[in-house]
Amino acid sequence: MPRLAWTLVACVLLHVVWTYARRKKRTQYVDAGAERVLILGASTPDGLGAELLRQYVERGAKHIMIVGRRQHALEDVRKRYPGVHVHAADLTRTQSVLALRDAVVRCMGGLDTLHMVFGATSILPILGVAGVDPCGVNSETEERGLTHATQDGLNRIGETVQRSCDANVKGPAIVLGALIPLMQTTSQRPAVVTIGSVAGLIPAPTRAVYCASKSAQHLLVRSVDLECESQAGMPGPGQSRRARVHFLLVAPGPIKNSFVATYSVDASTGPRDRRDQALRVEDVVRATLRRVDAEQWGVLVMPSYLRVAWILTCLDATYVYPTDLRRAWLGRAAHRLYRY
Ligand SMILES: NC(=O)c1ccc[n+]([C@@H]2O[C@H](COP(=O)([O-])OP(=O)(O)OC[C@H]3O[C@@H](n4cnc5c(N)ncnc54)[C@H](OP(=O)(O)O)[C@@H]3O)[C@@H](O)[C@H]2O)c1
Repeated sequence: MPRLAWTLVACVLLHVVWTYARRKKRTQYVDAGAERVLILGASTPDGLGAELLRQYVERGAKHIMIVGRRQHALEDVRKRYPGVHVHAADLTRTQSVLALRDAVVRCMGGLDTLHMVFGATSILPILGVAGVDPCGVNSETEERGLTHATQDGLNRIGETVQRSCDANVKGPAIVLGALIPLMQTTSQRPAVVTIGSVAGLIPAPTRAVYCASKSAQHLLVRSVDLECESQAGMPGPGQSRRARVHFLLVAPGPIKNSFVATYSVDASTGPRDRRDQALRVEDVVRATLRRVDAEQWGVLVMPSYLRVAWILTCLDATYVYPTDLRRAWLGRAAHRLYRY
């Protein structure tokens, strides 16, 4: 390569390193003890929300509110952390979300960091939900011998889609609508963390409805991110300018906990996919908080090899040669992982 090209490459590299090194961490603006944190979906002891609570308390956070529908379960999670605020709410209902916003203002006076963990999954193939799955796995409602779905079967598909979208799309949308103005006007460095899923990035057998609702959730938060970019700097009450709300979307692969067994809207059989290499809850939370502290927004895919699969999936959509090879590879991996 000619000397000029090497010099250019060196300049670009120096610029990147210099910019990165000079970048301040969020913790320099938002003091750990003063940070006001809201964790939505923290009532399961082995869940990401409960672990977020544990790690926030460990680093000295004093203003935390945890939310779920089950008050007694929230109280159980809070037992070891007496100063934590607890609020029971169904986040798919507007009235509950308004009451939650009032509680946040009353208890913490504003909001710096919002974690949207709550969600629902579905683990049957579409034909399994309808009761006519020729592979005959995973379904509790198999209508043996039928080739074509009945009206009941189709109604079950409708219900599965409705409940999944309520939890994964409608709930997050209502929450963002209610809390973004509060964050823009009460925090200097507001951040929203959403727990999406690798299922929202890569199609998978037995996860059609889950993949659909999670990818809708992903595009919801990534689009709201852009909307917040335009809203930043606009006038707000009690503040000359609204703050820029930043977004981190976390897209983990399977996690070792009880979520799939408990929050599946179409079956209670538990996960069929291979969980031997599933992520540990504490690792997902640690990586998430590291990214928030470093202000590295965007999408965090875990584990990292799934980033490669995601990129291949994106290329797949562009029909660049050799599409068939990639498809075959991705398909084989997905069939093996989900055993379908
Ligand atoms: N576990 C996995 O393998 C996996 C993998 C990738 C992504 N994810 C994503 O991670 C998130 C779940 O986190 P997790 O795995 O740690 O499980 P989890 O904590 O058990 O998640 C469910 C939590 O959300 C709450 N919740 C559900 N619906 C709600 C509603 N309508 N209103 C208020 N709270 C509600 C539940 O509390 P209540 O029952 O008390 O309401 C519970 O605390 C989901 O978004 C899921 O898509 C999970």
